[in-house]
Amino acid sequence: MFKMIKINLRKIIRDNAEEIHRIDSICFPAGIAYSFTEFTYLLKHINQAHTKGIKGFIIEVNSKTSGFIIARQNKERSEIITIDILPEFREKGYGEKLLNFMEQFLIKNMVKYIFLEVAVNNEPAVNLYTKLGYKILKKIDAYYPGNIPAFVMRKKI
Ligand SMILES: CC(C)(COP(=O)(O)OP(=O)(O)OC[C@H]1O[C@@H](n2cnc3c(N)ncnc32)[C@H](O)[C@@H]1OP(=O)(O)O)[C@@H](O)C(=O)NCCC(=O)NCCS
Repeated sequence: MFKMIKINLRKIIRDNAEEIHRIDSICFPAGIAYSFTEFTYLLKHINQAHTKGIKGFIIEVNSKTSGFIIARQNKERSEIITIDILPEFREKGYGEKLLNFMEQFLIKNMVKYIFLEVAVNNEPAVNLYTKLGYKILKKIDAYYPGNIPAFVMRKKI
């Protein structure tokens, strides 16, 4: 039988720090995942209605929190800080939906360029960004723990 899937996107609020931290700790190994203190700081002034600062959304699938995205905006430029989809919700199009949603939000908020850094060996993420039109600008050696290089990617929106 066909089961209806209900997707909801909601703005992150300060009180979500614990929930966001829990998801990030599942999605990234220790040393790469942000600490609770870092999330508390990041979310301190989240989603204030102007063209500077931290913006973020949570995706819910059938009322279950499934992932989130956080970006930093500085007028016409923005940077994706992280996008996390919980393992059981991956490869179903939710990461793409979330990134698309953030891009649409940033376009309305005057952004022209989105930047991000991604580990060169993070194939799912590199493929997602490439699929959505992000181009590799440069490679930074030993950017992540374990001497893993990063790609700096950019999209003009
Ligand atoms: C990267 C991530 C957000 C992708 O989320 P997702 O919901 O699984 O991705 P989607 O199902 O929307 O897939 C969109 C595209 O991403 C790419 N992709 C996703 N999973 C992939 C995989 N396992 N292998 C290769 N490419 C993959 C594909 O290009 C895919 O398009 P396609 O379905 O037409 O092939 C998810 O894997 C994740 O949370 N990873 C851990 C956290 C992380 O690394 N975040 C990025 C930080 S820079």
